[in-house]
Amino acid sequence: MKLIFYLSVLVGTFFSASSAVQKEDHAPYLVYLKSHFNPCVGVLIKKNWVLAPAHCYLPNLKVMLGNLRVRVRDGTEQTINPINIVRYWNYSHSYPQDDLMLIKLANPANNSHKVQPLALATSDVRPGTVCLLSGLDWSQDNSGRHPDLRQNLEAPVMSDKECQKTEQGKSHRNSLCVKFVKVFSRIFGEVAVATVICKKKLQGIEVGHFMGGDVGIYTNVYKYISWIENVTKDT
Ligand SMILES: *[C@@H]1O[C@H](CO)[C@@H](O)[C@H](O)[C@H]1NC(C)=O
Ligand SMILES: *[C@@H]1O[C@H](CO)[C@@H](O)[C@H](O)[C@H]1NC(C)=O
Ligand SMILES: *[C@@H]1O[C@H](CO)[C@@H](O)[C@H](O)[C@H]1NC(C)=O
Repeated sequence: MKLIFYLSVLVGTFFSASSAVQKEDHAPYLVYLKSHFNPCVGVLIKKNWVLAPAHCYLPNLKVMLGNLRVRVRDGTEQTINPINIVRYWNYSHSYPQDDLMLIKLANPANNSHKVQPLALATSDVRPGTVCLLSGLDWSQDNSGRHPDLRQNLEAPVMSDKECQKTEQGKSHRNSLCVKFVKVFSRIFGEVAVATVICKKKLQGIEVGHFMGGDVGIYTNVYKYISWIENVTKDT
């Protein structure tokens, strides 16, 4: 199994250079997939299931929910072991396609204001829709390996046709593309914009090595709904 870390670092972020205080955004569905390898983000979709990119199938994976800040504890922190991981049946490491897996948690997550499952897409999203990119970032006083801050940004979804014309989009299928609209001023990684949420539904999830220029490529979650429902149905 290839464990190459495709942290395609993008120069900049949506915050202005002068922004001082990073406050935590509301994104209670985001989970941090902690391992000895690359940082990864998943989404709590049921109390005991997490949807994540398949390239995040890493040794010693732990699912961390709630507050991720180490120095400030607030009682919402939960660390749960996976009990089963199901990768999408057509996933292959050599292709960026079908980069999805489902992680069954050994214990159900306890809901709180910082831990809530997110509903899955019920239809394709219309091009031009402005969606929320939700992900994890490193707060200023955190120089460690693990991100500790939830962050949300807005970005419009591109049409398939527009996406296929881009360098990154043309080699993908079942993908959802977003256009980063703001000017970048800081370095951050893929985990910072790991998910696309439109009208409070999960529409896209990060694929490995997905950013370049001002375009982000995501797995179109709606195309996989029947597989997700089938795998998670009895629990
Ligand atoms: C959820 O809450 C119960 C009851 O307080 C507790 O026993 C359990 O450990 C909690 N689960 C997690 C994952 O923290
Ligand atoms: C499975 O994946 C391969 C390579 O990624 C692709 O060529 C093929 O079309 C996929 N099959 C289906 C049924 O999606
Ligand atoms: C649902 O999952 C089962 C067990 O993996 C499989 O045999 C079956 O074909 C799946 N059904 C659908 C509709 O995908």
